[in-house]
Amino acid sequence: MQIFLDTADMDALKKFSRTGLIDGVTTNPSIIAHSGRDLKKTIGAICALIKGPVSAEVAACTADHMIHEAKVLRAIAENVVIKIPLTPEGLLACAALSAENIETNVTLCFSANQALLAAKAGATYISPFIGRLDDLGQDGMELIHDIRDIYDNYGFATQILAASIRSTAHVKQSAMAGADVVTIPPKIFEQLYHHPLTDKGLAAFEKDWAGTGQSIIE
Ligand code: E4P
Repeated sequence: MQIFLDTADMDALKKFSRTGLIDGVTTNPSIIAHSGRDLKKTIGAICALIKGPVSAEVAACTADHMIHEAKVLRAIAENVVIKIPLTPEGLLACAALSAENIETNVTLCFSANQALLAAKAGATYISPFIGRLDDLGQDGMELIHDIRDIYDNYGFATQILAASIRSTAHVKQSAMAGADVVTIPPKIFEQLYHHPLTDKGLAAFEKDWAGTGQSIIE
């Protein structure tokens, strides 16, 4: 499973790109707004740092306008993936961009039927929003399972990008459900490393090792 960071925070991206574990980045209009930075400059800076796919979202509502915006965003860098809302106009734009071999990430997916339509429109990625479904008392993870079944039934190449991740449990469950990608806020990515028994075990090893008086490097 690939791991993307769901952020436009350059400090976090620099910190975690060093791990070698980050395969790509997703952004959305809210993330850009909260960053307080210019969209195009921010996407350019992220693409210079992360060589994998970097999703940048269109703002338009009509297919023609989305396609025009997509061309502007793609001119920023080769690894820009065009993020498009799951609307009838969005899927028209998705099909047109796919026909030109421009990678797309169809976003705001909340049902298996929507995911089916996105795959038929040639989406490179589908982004089901787990956390927002959970917020409504629904089971976001069930949606990932359903989409996995449907895509496997028909051999769709569209990759399932589990989004709206709120916990480390969501990451594990996405991996178990067969999501191709999970996009994670930086603070949740950092939590993936940790377990209290790791910390406790390491403290004991360090204490015992110090007691031996030995040194591996002479
Ligand atoms: C990423 O592609 C999505 O836009 C993002 O994960 C949405 O997360 P949120 O529901 O926490 O805003």
